[in-house]
Amino acid sequence: MRKPIIAGNWKMYKTVKESADFVKQLHEKMKGISDREIVVCPTFLSVPAVVEALRFSNIQPGCQDAHWENEGAYTGNVSPAMLKEAGVKYVILGHSEKRQYDGETDPRINLKLKNVLKNGLKAIVCVGETLAERELGKTEKVIETQIQGCFEGIGLGDMADIVIAYEPVWAIGTGKNATPEQANEVHAFIRKLMEKKYNAETAQQLRIQYGGSVKPENVKQLMGQPDIDGALVGGASLKVDSFAAIVGF
Ligand code: 13P
Repeated sequence: MRKPIIAGNWKMYKTVKESADFVKQLHEKMKGISDREIVVCPTFLSVPAVVEALRFSNIQPGCQDAHWENEGAYTGNVSPAMLKEAGVKYVILGHSEKRQYDGETDPRINLKLKNVLKNGLKAIVCVGETLAERELGKTEKVIETQIQGCFEGIGLGDMADIVIAYEPVWAIGTGKNATPEQANEVHAFIRKLMEKKYNAETAQQLRIQYGGSVKPENVKQLMGQPDIDGALVGGASLKVDSFAAIVGF
């Protein structure tokens, strides 16, 4: 049985104070929930305040990237070792906005993933096709290439610390979500790829989140699909009430 995991990706939203205020309110609403994992991923700057506010909470702090080295001359970056010490539990890697605006590539995501795992953190690895790729019938090919690149050399023993997020680029921030069936088809495909790469048990245990315009109104149908095990939520994770409603689907 896979435990559902709902994560909020705050992207470049919320100041330090807004982040701390938000999680204090969310914590009150989430008390007692133990049948699903809840994660919030603020900007690096807000991590310490969020970790502090969540000290006795069932909500886990995450972040939105981490470097492939633990230290060095890499201006503008933050390492997994630093994030681990700060109290982070989950790291989002390979988000399509990092791929689009910051030149993120599968080989780099792979290096980052290895270092995140080496530091005892968990990863949410994002994959997804663009609208043009979908319209050309290339969705499966694109997903397969991304998975192969991101998981190169990742051993069976690490899979329990990895969640995959399927985020079709055309559904992010557009209000256009994939239908539950469209999403599930890709999730099932990812699970099959993992069965081929690892084994049936590992594939069955792997949690695959859907991301792209998830809202309180559509989360229940998405979560009703057999291969959808959670949600990676952008816009609707920025308000306490809507994020709480999604967690409580
Ligand atoms: P939206 O929920 O705003 O579409 O964003 C999805 C996303 O990118 C989560 O990582």
